[in-house]
Amino acid sequence: MKKKVLLMGKSGSGKTSMRSIIFSNYIARDTRRLGATIDVESSSVKFLGNLTLNLWDCGGQEAFMEHYFASQRGHIFKSVELLIYVFDVESRDSEKDIHYYQWCLEAILEKSPNAKIFCLLHKMDLVPLDQRDQLFSHWKNELQRLSLPLETVVFPTSIWDETLYAAWSKIVHCLIPNINTLQMHLDKFCEICEADEVVLFERTTILVIANAARVQHPDIHRFEKISSIIKQFNPSGREPSHFKSMEIRSATFSAFIDALTTNTYVMVVLSDSSIQSAATLHNISVARKHFK
Ligand code: GTP
Repeated sequence: MKKKVLLMGKSGSGKTSMRSIIFSNYIARDTRRLGATIDVESSSVKFLGNLTLNLWDCGGQEAFMEHYFASQRGHIFKSVELLIYVFDVESRDSEKDIHYYQWCLEAILEKSPNAKIFCLLHKMDLVPLDQRDQLFSHWKNELQRLSLPLETVVFPTSIWDETLYAAWSKIVHCLIPNINTLQMHLDKFCEICEADEVVLFERTTILVIANAARVQHPDIHRFEKISSIIKQFNPSGREPSHFKSMEIRSATFSAFIDALTTNTYVMVVLSDSSIQSAATLHNISVARKHFK
């Protein structure tokens, strides 16, 4: 199953940076060395076994942009499943950015009217902390208004913190087939393990696919923080075999991270200290065939 994902936005907004961090295991610092994308760089990323993301990173220099909307319109905008439009929050010419965005929406409406649309308000790290919420909420309302009659979901992102993972996890979530069945299995598994929480990660990107919880946790960014920690154990990125499993024990909880299927890792978090490690590992092992 191939799904075409368009990554668009003006030159320097950070498209190739985020693609390289999520799918090629770059660290944020390395993206400073990236050159401008010439025309379109398309790559196929295997995701969860039978799903392939066909990622089109469209270079954002003006000459390329004009080309996409004119002579390459059919080629670029047909059969699009997802459009991710990246706005540089520090942009000095936001009017022009909006103008290109609206051109893009027109082309999508014409060639792929059922595509889902996401806007990323990127480089939020450059905005002072006390102004972020207000700026984001202003832009979110503005972009949703300007996108009508299409609907768009807006996320604040930065390569320098976990917001990038949070946004991309939610974006790929909507591409996963049978997500409801998967969620049902995970809820059941969480109950059987008597876990506080169970989280499912895709194995090469370490994006969160789904989670089930019996106990609510106050840190809403915990998954993305864990994603970036696991990534440190898997420096080659495309080879999931480097990282196999991990058990963490503290006075108040224990956590197990283990390969569940060839394409996923599961993390099981427990605060009930009477549950033996062997029991949890056995549960994970039995669950494997249900998640295949
Ligand atoms: P084109 O290929 O020309 O379309 O540009 P692009 O959108 O692919 O931009 P690219 O990813 O090459 O990023 C340009 C610069 O922005 C790089 O130096 C990145 O390090 C920097 N950058 C990317 N994301 C962020 C971010 O979240 N915060 C900050 N401060 N810089 C970022």
